[in-house]
Amino acid sequence: MESASETIKRIFGGNGNSVGAEMAEVSSRYNALERVRFPKPSRTRYIAVANQKGGVGKTTTTVNIAAALAYAHSRVLVIDMDPQGNASTALGVKHNTGEPSTYDVLEGRKSIEEVKQRSPVFKTLDVVPASIDLSGAELEVADMEDRNNLLKNAIFSFTESSKTHYDYVIIDCPPSLGLLVINAMCAVNEVLIPIQAEYYALEGLGQLIQTIGLVQEHYNPALLVSTMLVTMFDRRTLLSKEIYDKVYEHYPHIVLKTTIPRTVKISEAPSFAKSVIEYDPHGMGAVSYREAALEIARRSPSVLKTIQTRKQRSN
Ligand SMILES: Nc1ncnc2c1ncn2[C@@H]1O[C@H](COP(=O)(O)OP(=O)(O)O)[C@@H](O)[C@H]1O
Ligand SMILES: [Mg+2]
Repeated sequence: MESASETIKRIFGGNGNSVGAEMAEVSSRYNALERVRFPKPSRTRYIAVANQKGGVGKTTTTVNIAAALAYAHSRVLVIDMDPQGNASTALGVKHNTGEPSTYDVLEGRKSIEEVKQRSPVFKTLDVVPASIDLSGAELEVADMEDRNNLLKNAIFSFTESSKTHYDYVIIDCPPSLGLLVINAMCAVNEVLIPIQAEYYALEGLGQLIQTIGLVQEHYNPALLVSTMLVTMFDRRTLLSKEIYDKVYEHYPHIVLKTTIPRTVKISEAPSFAKSVIEYDPHGMGAVSYREAALEIARRSPSVLKTIQTRKQRSN
């Protein structure tokens, strides 16, 4: 029998027609994804999604990678560390001011167990929401002795007592290099850096890597930049490809082969309180984020091994 992609190719004239060709391509990539099994990591992967630049796709990446992994039956905890609460919005959990949130967790009033909410869509996805209240935390905890490890301690006591084993804990960071981001970097083993495919993309990357270096030196020697993901990629422009090649040249083992295209559906999804995986499952955005998630999942053995080696060396 003719497959969906063959039908589309026949109707739209295959490669001669770019819309038809793209539809055929995305449909065959979708079908391939439906057939693969996502391997689960042997230990929990703790990942902070960070970049001090705003608008590069941190939140979009957190939300859609988390949704893609949960769709593939992995157990995922998202921690929203941005007072904007955009990840909480996109994942459809309550996060009005006053709602128990990351703010209470950081300041020790509540445990992660008490504030986490189940995603209304994915039953293996939990979210610790953030509200604008969190913007006060940076000042309020500034004098505390262990102020950099507040999140780490909260995660530790949660995982110690929780009956649930998570495959991934993913933290969405605000666009800064302040105390909230340092807390995230102290609480994880890995940083995922989204890089927007635009002219100034690589500016600021040096500063970010330097900050990560400082965190490694002072607090978290095993911290690894495990993943870079080029977002808002435009296949039709040479610039996008040049940006990718530049990142690849410097970080060949870190940057994912998958890039995330700029699509209207990706930017629309949050206004419906949805990930693009749910909002437009067959579209190029969802398929690309699922492919990126698969690459991340497949790298688990080597990433976990590197982290283990670093931990042993720093002890
Ligand atoms: N691949 C994409 N295609 C289209 N719009 C995108 C894409 N990725 C992000 N956006 C949009 O760009 C803006 C910034 O993205 P966001 O994830 O909020 O960045 P950050 O968290 O780094 O500030 C948002 O409006 C988002 O919807
Ligand atoms: Mg954000």
